[in-house]
Amino acid sequence: ARPRVTRTGPAGIGRFVRAAHLALVRELRVRVVGDEVDEHFEEAKNKLSSLKEDPGNDVKLKIYALFKQATHGPCDTPKPGMLDFINKAKWDSWKSLGSMTQEEARQRYCDLIGSLVAAEGGAAAQAPARSSAGGRTYDSLLVSTQDDITTIVLNRPAKKNAITTQMYEEIIEALQHAARDHSVVTVFTGAGDFYCSGNDLSNFTKIPEGGAEQMAKAGGELLRRYVKAFIDFPKPLVAVVNGPAVGISVTVMGMFDLVYATESATFHTPFSQLGQSPEGCSSYTFPRIMGLGKANEMLLFNKKLTAFQACQLGLVTEVFPDSSFHAEVWSRLKNYAKLPPNSLALSKQLIRSVEKERLHAVNDAEVDRLIERWMSDECFNAVMSFFQAKAKL
Ligand code: COA
Repeated sequence: ARPRVTRTGPAGIGRFVRAAHLALVRELRVRVVGDEVDEHFEEAKNKLSSLKEDPGNDVKLKIYALFKQATHGPCDTPKPGMLDFINKAKWDSWKSLGSMTQEEARQRYCDLIGSLVAAEGGAAAQAPARSSAGGRTYDSLLVSTQDDITTIVLNRPAKKNAITTQMYEEIIEALQHAARDHSVVTVFTGAGDFYCSGNDLSNFTKIPEGGAEQMAKAGGELLRRYVKAFIDFPKPLVAVVNGPAVGISVTVMGMFDLVYATESATFHTPFSQLGQSPEGCSSYTFPRIMGLGKANEMLLFNKKLTAFQACQLGLVTEVFPDSSFHAEVWSRLKNYAKLPPNSLALSKQLIRSVEKERLHAVNDAEVDRLIERWMSDECFNAVMSFFQAKAKL
């Protein structure tokens, strides 16, 4: 059974965190008057006070910063002194938003609160921020269609959007749905500060009655279908990489048509560290995209790339400043989505058609290798080490 993981901090930190939380919540509840504050923003503010779980200091600072940016504009107050820890952290967070527009900040505020509410089981509460996709709601994703763009948001920010077994199934379904809906472009992104931390390692700790072999084979079949959904996706697919990306969220990038990254995003595929081997067709696409040596540094030797390095190597299409990432990327995508849909889809299919059969073969070979790896002592020990290290914190 998975060891019970608890997290405690030194005495006093809890009080500090609670005090900071109360101060932030008090500030966030301040009533905002002004015509420019839209209805969704008001709804999001009300939802914030209904959160049952503390989202953690990082997220609270982000909420604070977006709120200030939305209601006041870019940070223009003097920097607090070094020893004024709480106000300094809040100021830093607000300042980091740079010249983001108030409209963009309001939208991101609504998205963030919506994802937190959804993570607590109230997914339906997110709906007003964006229209829903065909009425289907997902437990671990936020899926919506607007401006001819279907957006699939990985929505487990508390776990850095690690992909559970159920999430793999939901993503496959969301991709199949997006392939058929009226949208022109499909976008993949993450809620919170991470794009995705890859496969949820606790998937390995839920051993069924049939034992590790049954688990590995079932996992392999799921992975095969997951990667297949990307290989076969018929419309332009764009990754909007809003933060660090790990494992399978990186390896499938070779099958995206565009990868736009914020400058603080990183790209990491620590397979050998985990006793595993590459998936997502990366054993084929990475050497093709970046050359053998650079691909080996990532896939064999766990090298983590910055967004700029990944862009230089061709894995990322373009890098944007953190402060203007969302505004720039979304305005660009909205323009792309105005192009003739059939021309876009048929052109994408043409570009990919030469490789499709090969990608399916690569996917099969990678899955077979991984099924064997997942049953190995190397993999078992690496996964146990991850959770033991967490338990010690
Ligand atoms: N599987 C399961 N849980 C994960 C996870 C993953 N891939 N990535 C993050 N989490 C969980 C953590 O266990 C933690 O849970 P807790 O709050 O219950 O302890 C929570 O998400 C937050 O992660 P944490 O490690 O505290 O955040 P961090 O910013 O210090 O580090 C990562 C983030 C992603 C660098 C780190 O969690 C990590 O290395 N995860 C494993 C990534 C990985 O190896 N993926 C598979 C690749 S093949």
